[in-house]
Amino acid sequence: MIIAIDGPAASGKGTLAKRLAAHYGFRHLDSGLLYRGVAKAVLDVGKLADDRAAAIAAAKSFDPARYDEAVLKSDDVAKAASFVAAIPEVRAELVAFQRAFAQSKPGAVIDGRDIGTVIAPEAEVKIFVTASAEERARRRVAELQGRGETPDPAGVLADILKRDERDAGRAVAPLKQAPDAHLLDTTHLAIDPAVRAAIDIVEAVRAGRRPA
Ligand code: C5P
Repeated sequence: MIIAIDGPAASGKGTLAKRLAAHYGFRHLDSGLLYRGVAKAVLDVGKLADDRAAAIAAAKSFDPARYDEAVLKSDDVAKAASFVAAIPEVRAELVAFQRAFAQSKPGAVIDGRDIGTVIAPEAEVKIFVTASAEERARRRVAELQGRGETPDPAGVLADILKRDERDAGRAVAPLKQAPDAHLLDTTHLAIDPAVRAAIDIVEAVRAGRRPA
């Protein structure tokens, strides 16, 4: 079984995907890490993230095990990732890895922006996770504060809005809800009820019911 979880930056889709995978004993792939890995490799050779040739070269020699997840989770890498992710050749290089992962047994949960639309349109369950930009920024600020950082809330919100705009506005595989995806708005949901709601969606699909 394939569960595709898409949604904008800091919507909580990563945590939801991880928890769903643990619940069902499925493998989990955070596809954002692939784009972040390519972006980091570009930055590491001293190039800018919108350098097409450098990004395509980095994608061609992409090694998913090259960087620790912690290194890839910075906001600078996230921003750079949204530039390399708009380059069609970069996306094309990363498709095979994701499609192979989607075939994992007994199942796979993959989160990203285009999983239900491009990578695994055949996924049995598609969930589009969203939350208001203000709530997503609030969560991100709390996360950074938890790491001892002192972020500027207005700057965090502005970065999230800019990244949403780049992800939804690009020509190739833009962020958008698949027509057959179930919308899960977590603006007013803490993580546990959000996970519950996601499990309810999966269970309803498995039982052949329409989710509530
Ligand atoms: O999900 P995450 O915030 O880690 O993604 C980082 C960036 O990678 C996104 O802003 C987006 O530009 C890109 N991405 C993508 N397609 C995916 C996953 C991530 O374009 N499936």
